[in-house]
Amino acid sequence: MPRFVFNSCFGNFFLNGKPRMNPLEQLVTQAHADFIDAPDAAALENAKAKYLGKTGQITEQMKGLGKLAADERKAQGAIINAAKEKIETALTARRDALADAQMQLRLNAEAIDVTLPGRGRSVGGIHPVMRTWQRVEEIFGSIGFDVADGPEIENDWTNFTSLNSPENHPARSMQDTFYIEGDDSEGKPLLLRTHTSPMQVRYARMNKPPIKVIAPGRTYRVDSDATHSPMFHQVEGLWIDENISFADLKGVYLNFVKAFFETDDLQVRFRPSYFPFTEPSAEIDIAFGSGPLKGRWLEVSGAGQVHPNVVRNMGIDPEKYIGFAFGSGLERLTMLRYGISDLRLFYEGDLRFLKQFN
Ligand code: DAH
Repeated sequence: MPRFVFNSCFGNFFLNGKPRMNPLEQLVTQAHADFIDAPDAAALENAKAKYLGKTGQITEQMKGLGKLAADERKAQGAIINAAKEKIETALTARRDALADAQMQLRLNAEAIDVTLPGRGRSVGGIHPVMRTWQRVEEIFGSIGFDVADGPEIENDWTNFTSLNSPENHPARSMQDTFYIEGDDSEGKPLLLRTHTSPMQVRYARMNKPPIKVIAPGRTYRVDSDATHSPMFHQVEGLWIDENISFADLKGVYLNFVKAFFETDDLQVRFRPSYFPFTEPSAEIDIAFGSGPLKGRWLEVSGAGQVHPNVVRNMGIDPEKYIGFAFGSGLERLTMLRYGISDLRLFYEGDLRFLKQFN
């Protein structure tokens, strides 16, 4: 009969005087190997059942303790418990390792490469027509003109009738426009304003003379070619007082173009024209004394003495008050200032074009 001698808890024991692994130690080693072999959490739980489950080998060993004598049971119980603890420790270690590996996989999958160069954010700029708008406000502001803003959706009365273009008058067809379905609250047909001139009447009806105002803004017409866009910009000017003449118009406009084009070397002329809302009416032309456009007369604005019917529609007595109005295209002014030949460039949104102005 071989004689087993236990030393340590369950570690080495001797078989016929030679050290040898006891069965519990083998079990621990085996469990350890099984756990390491388990490729994932599910496999690990199966491996655990083999040792620690209800019918697992450690559990079976525990069940066997009942058959032993009291002192042997105590010693053997301690040994089995120590083995169980080792198996549990190995199990926890493997669980942690699998969880770590899982986490690592996720981290790798979700990794962001922070070394990629940034996309950058480009700096915006002011559109050349807006730059003109700003300059126009500054220049007229500096000589005491107020700046007014008005609706782009106008009614037919303010856009045409109040400006001395009665219904069915042929002058209306000079400004073909976009009508809008429905009427305003007073039953007047609505349209996209064809010019900023209705702002003369709107502003004058809300302010007492003397009136000295500019009204820059967007305007609309059914028109599209190299010098016309369906949406464009104008600035309206209006000066009404008891004694305002064409001489004042000439002085104001000359001052404006000199400041706008940053040169004193230019001339202004009035060329007779027709507008329903002014009498007499004129086109204002300018000519530069130098530069690429030297000596050519260039049309920059419509203008005239405000028609008495319009003054009356402003709610002002035309016997007492008189004055001038002008309407200039902001695109036109911008094209002349920068030497641009095609107006459509302003609205194509091509950054190569737009960047030149910033
Ligand atoms: N409203 C005119 C147009 O768009 C321009 C204009 C001409 C405005 C004469 C005026 C003016 O104030 O007096 O064609």
